[in-house]
Amino acid sequence: MNTAIASSKNYFTATFQDLIKYPKSGILNQVLLKDNNIQYTLFCLAAGTKIDEHSSTRNAVITVIEGKGNFNLEGKDIALAPGVFILMPANAPHAVQATENLAFVLTLSEHLPAKKKISQQTINIVKSTAPIIKQHGQKITTRMYEIMFQTHPEVKAQFDMSAQANGTQPAKLATAVYSYATHIDDLEGLKAMVDYIAHRHVKTHVLPEQYPIVGECLLQAIQDILGDAATEEVITAWAEAYQLLAEVFIDREQQIYQTDNES
Ligand code: HEM
Repeated sequence: MNTAIASSKNYFTATFQDLIKYPKSGILNQVLLKDNNIQYTLFCLAAGTKIDEHSSTRNAVITVIEGKGNFNLEGKDIALAPGVFILMPANAPHAVQATENLAFVLTLSEHLPAKKKISQQTINIVKSTAPIIKQHGQKITTRMYEIMFQTHPEVKAQFDMSAQANGTQPAKLATAVYSYATHIDDLEGLKAMVDYIAHRHVKTHVLPEQYPIVGECLLQAIQDILGDAATEEVITAWAEAYQLLAEVFIDREQQIYQTDNES
């Protein structure tokens, strides 16, 4: 774990000449400061190093201190040289290549997830299904895992199968789905739950592309267990609601993956 060398509580001063250290190959990064609002990281890339295309969920600024290289931002090449300053919006794909030893500071702004929109009608329908979800929640989630492990056996490796067999994981998922149904219009109230589950997901390497799999299996399970009560209206509302929850998890998990990589 790379801890920050400065804290926002005390002043800090240094010269880049003292801070910059190049590895023989690859990248050395040093978090200069990290708090809830901002993170400054000094990157030192040995000549020839490439950082493949990726994106960040946070707005970012690159300030080149020394060296030369190329920065590809959304397909456009920008020559890197001392003093070059690049403002990069969240989610913009970018890649870096150092042609000489290259040092730059990456500043990441506060993480502000885009405000998700969901219709009032969906909120009303999902909330109205909360009692029935509470009553049949574990049957639904048990069926959900059954469908998922049959149709996507490759995900089994990520799960503790004893927690499936003794019902604890389906019970946890049922509680989460019920909490969501009751808090769909108060996502702030779900923050602690989302945070906890997102950390568990990151530990078990859950990826954004897996969310549609769970979504599809969950909707199928709702139909299987609720039968006629799962009207088209209910299924459409839950599909929209699931999409919103998936985006909330994906955003939070991307943030955790990124922080883990950067520190
Ligand atoms: C919005 C959708 C999802 C919800 C509400 C959800 C909910 C949960 C909950 C409540 C837990 C238990 C956390 C704990 O107490 O330990 C959990 C764990 C887990 N989830 Fe999810 N999850 C979702 C999507 C996904 C997806 C897409 C995957 C990918 C396959 C996934 C894989 C896992 C895994 C592997 C664990 C750890 C389980 C174990 O240790 O056996 N989840 N999830």
